[in-house]
Amino acid sequence: MTAPSRVVLSLRGATKTYGHGTGRVTALANVTVDIEEGRFTAIMGPSGSGKSTLMNLAAGLDDPTSGEVWLAGHGLHLLDEEARTVLRRTHVGFVFQAFNLVPTLTAMENVLLPLALAGRRLTREDDLRVDRLLGELGLDERRHHRPGELSGGQQQRVAIARALAGTPSVVIADEPTGNLDTRSSREVLGLLGSAVESYGQTIVMVSHDPVAASRADRILMITDGRIVGDHPRCTPEEIASLLIELEVGAA
Ligand SMILES: Nc1ncnc2c1ncn2[C@@H]1O[C@H](COP(=O)(O)OP(=O)(O)OP(=O)(O)O)[C@@H](O)[C@H]1O
Ligand SMILES: [Mg+2]
Repeated sequence: MTAPSRVVLSLRGATKTYGHGTGRVTALANVTVDIEEGRFTAIMGPSGSGKSTLMNLAAGLDDPTSGEVWLAGHGLHLLDEEARTVLRRTHVGFVFQAFNLVPTLTAMENVLLPLALAGRRLTREDDLRVDRLLGELGLDERRHHRPGELSGGQQQRVAIARALAGTPSVVIADEPTGNLDTRSSREVLGLLGSAVESYGQTIVMVSHDPVAASRADRILMITDGRIVGDHPRCTPEEIASLLIELEVGAA
């Protein structure tokens, strides 16, 4: 018998609308989903289907119009802005499509930044972990380089090290391989996959790439702001057919 999984992220009837009157858009419509600890979840769906909206709500970067978001046992609606910022800094690691590194800081300084922002005093374990991360990411020789001196793939690896450095409850990755060539994408996915397998990291990743999503334990399909599919691990071919079905269904 396996131990029951712990839910680290939960959306309860989350709806997000933008605009008013005829310009009103429902980006997310009554979404209820639980994300369990130590799992790698991929979110897929057409452009404009609400994937980034879902990620922004999950990370507490934006509020639902109605419904609730629970992160690491805390209801975000119950917290003020300051408490939410603290919660986000402690519990969420971010990786975006545009690497979002601070251009004036070195790779190492960028990786340590979230820990500094969270007001964490760096322990010997933190140092060792960050060292090991940079080594695993093949950035040993690059730790004192600034983002402008790194390739796209290297910058994204720094962004992943930064997201993992604080051992957050959940890493939210919105198209982390969107800007990378095939080889760099595969490297970045390998890193995300091994963070889940080796360290039990929880990752939620938006991707358009069936090969990327085939690394995930679970694949959520979203269309028009609703979750329309929830699948266990699939092959890239199976995922490609699911995407085609979605598009045919939407046409
Ligand atoms: N700030 C905003 N103001 C108004 N409408 C918005 C805003 N952000 C998103 N939307 C709308 O909400 C819907 C969902 O957008 P979202 O960014 O979540 O899609 P997505 O699935 O991430 O798409 P993509 O794959 O292109 O990144 C879209 O129709 C979009 O135009
Ligand atoms: Mg998006």
